[in-house]
Amino acid sequence: MRIDILTVVPDLLSGPFDHSILKRAKEKGLAEIHVHNIRDYSTDKHKNVDDYQYGGGAGMVMSIQPISDCIEDLQKQRDYDEIIYVTPDGELFDQNTANQLSLKGNIIILCGHYKGVDERIRQHFVTKEISIGSYVLSGGELAAAVIADSVVRLIPGVLNDETSALTDSFQDGLLSPPVYTRPAEYKGMKVPEVLLSGNFKKIEEFREKEALRRTQERRPDLLD
Ligand code: ADE
Repeated sequence: MRIDILTVVPDLLSGPFDHSILKRAKEKGLAEIHVHNIRDYSTDKHKNVDDYQYGGGAGMVMSIQPISDCIEDLQKQRDYDEIIYVTPDGELFDQNTANQLSLKGNIIILCGHYKGVDERIRQHFVTKEISIGSYVLSGGELAAAVIADSVVRLIPGVLNDETSALTDSFQDGLLSPPVYTRPAEYKGMKVPEVLLSGNFKKIEEFREKEALRRTQERRPDLLD
């Protein structure tokens, strides 16, 4: 899978993909993440990438020219399955969308800044608009990193058995049960007896019960 991220602040994305699971995915050749500076595509003599909004009002709008040139340049090199714009007014991101995106070959993620991008980009280029939550970030970069992380770890071969995505929260519509590791007792705080019993049927029952209890308590909406 290849993810191209378009941004005016590429530095914000230099760290997240160089560690742990995403780093391994890149090293194994299962995921490529390329970050493009939209400013490099600006034909403006000052390399501007934004302008005042038509009709007046506070805040700058990202111009159509550098973004459309950047997208068209990428499209000349390969086909894209999805061009995603990350924006607070997009559809709410969830595990289901992450699962769907992990099956794609090439995707572009466009990060907005300021007041957002010229609407014509959204109308003529963007195929999907995603919000990572009902709050406003200063730009789309952290949202793009969240999406890339949650999608890449689902690509077959990226995770090993120990980190398997199948037992993640949300994959079966439930939150994950609590987990414990050694020691069995620490300053009087004990691990539930059943987990030490070696009885796998009982352990499975305990985990299912706890997953359901957590989901009922914390995210009853998932059970609707
Ligand atoms: N850009 C700014 N806020 C955002 C959000 N909540 N989700 C996606 N992109 C954003």
